[in-house]
Amino acid sequence: MGGNTYGRFFRITTWGESHGKALGVVIDGCPPGISINEEEINKELSLRRPKSDGLSTSRKEEDSCEILSGVFEGKTLGTPISIIVNNKDVDSSSYEKIKGVFRPGHADYTYFKKYGLYDYRGGGRASGRETVARVAAGAVARKILEKEIKGFELFSFTKDIGGIRISEINHNSLKREEIVKDRLWCPDKKISEQMAQQIVKAKSQGESVGGIVEIVAKNVPLGLGEPVFDKLEADLGKGLLSIGAVKGVEFGGGFNLSNLLGSESNDQMNPKGFVTNRAGGIVGGISNGEEIVIRVAVKPIPSISKEQKTIDIEGNERSIKIEGRHDPCAIPRINPVCESMVAITILDHLLMQKSIGGIK
Ligand SMILES: Cc1cc2nc3c(=O)[nH]c(=O)nc-3n(C[C@H](O)[C@H](O)[C@H](O)COP(=O)(O)O)c2cc1C
Repeated sequence: MGGNTYGRFFRITTWGESHGKALGVVIDGCPPGISINEEEINKELSLRRPKSDGLSTSRKEEDSCEILSGVFEGKTLGTPISIIVNNKDVDSSSYEKIKGVFRPGHADYTYFKKYGLYDYRGGGRASGRETVARVAAGAVARKILEKEIKGFELFSFTKDIGGIRISEINHNSLKREEIVKDRLWCPDKKISEQMAQQIVKAKSQGESVGGIVEIVAKNVPLGLGEPVFDKLEADLGKGLLSIGAVKGVEFGGGFNLSNLLGSESNDQMNPKGFVTNRAGGIVGGISNGEEIVIRVAVKPIPSISKEQKTIDIEGNERSIKIEGRHDPCAIPRINPVCESMVAITILDHLLMQKSIGGIK
């Protein structure tokens, strides 16, 4: 199976299945001399971990990592960093009942048709669990970006869950450490409560919900992104769309720009810089020094207990009700995953820019 490696200069390879022994990541191209330890990575992993608040899966994913290589006396060596997260709370019993029956909205059918077999336990490689490895790599990338870029900030927040949406918000009023205190990563407490009710309601009806996550990167240096196929937008789009359940990505004004006139869409300039940031910090695929603003559309979790029509591996008509421990909404567990893919991509481009000796 190809396609498990992402990035050119800061290169990650993730491995492992949902119900296997462990998952992990190998990071190649990490600069030497960066201080990093398991505790720092675990802190990031804890943000992705399910909470026992009824709004995510009841799986008790401990998600404690071990660094196997590439770090010596607390500093990166410049050699491959290998990080492993053991699976501790695996219960595949609910999958036995639906063995060979394709779950609508999940990757069972496409994996089976592509490979002729599939790991039916928890989605195997297509599981949300795979993203634990990305967050481990993202923790390393974030550490480097914070060291290399003065004032670098990267955060995300929940904009919408099941149609409950917060109004426009000034990013300057947002701090990551405050956002993550909210159980849904929503900066508006009142709306957060309504979002939670929406999730609980969906779950009680055997349903699930999706939503929108906004990701913001501040003080990203001007000049990152390579014409023409390796544009910063193209790579960020790929990184984010590679996350399960992400179905759309937009930058800055996004899809709404299509309804505007040129003068309404352009970011005019004065000697101090850009007057607006409808581009979302990237023009011509190159960062322009403004905030990078991205939104991702997250679909409802496919595994629902409501009865649905499907087929089995022999092509017989079947109905399916999915039991087991599932997230009724991928948000906010997906939020740190989105941040991680953005951190990895920006770092990859920063290292690329350094290699060509571009403007500082
Ligand atoms: C953090 C995270 C958690 C997820 N949890 C679940 C889950 O509990 N049950 C499920 O069916 N899908 C879950 N998903 C979604 C599936 O992984 C995803 O929908 C599936 O792989 C099909 O891929 P696609 O939606 O990108 O087409 C999760 C995804 C993420 C990123």
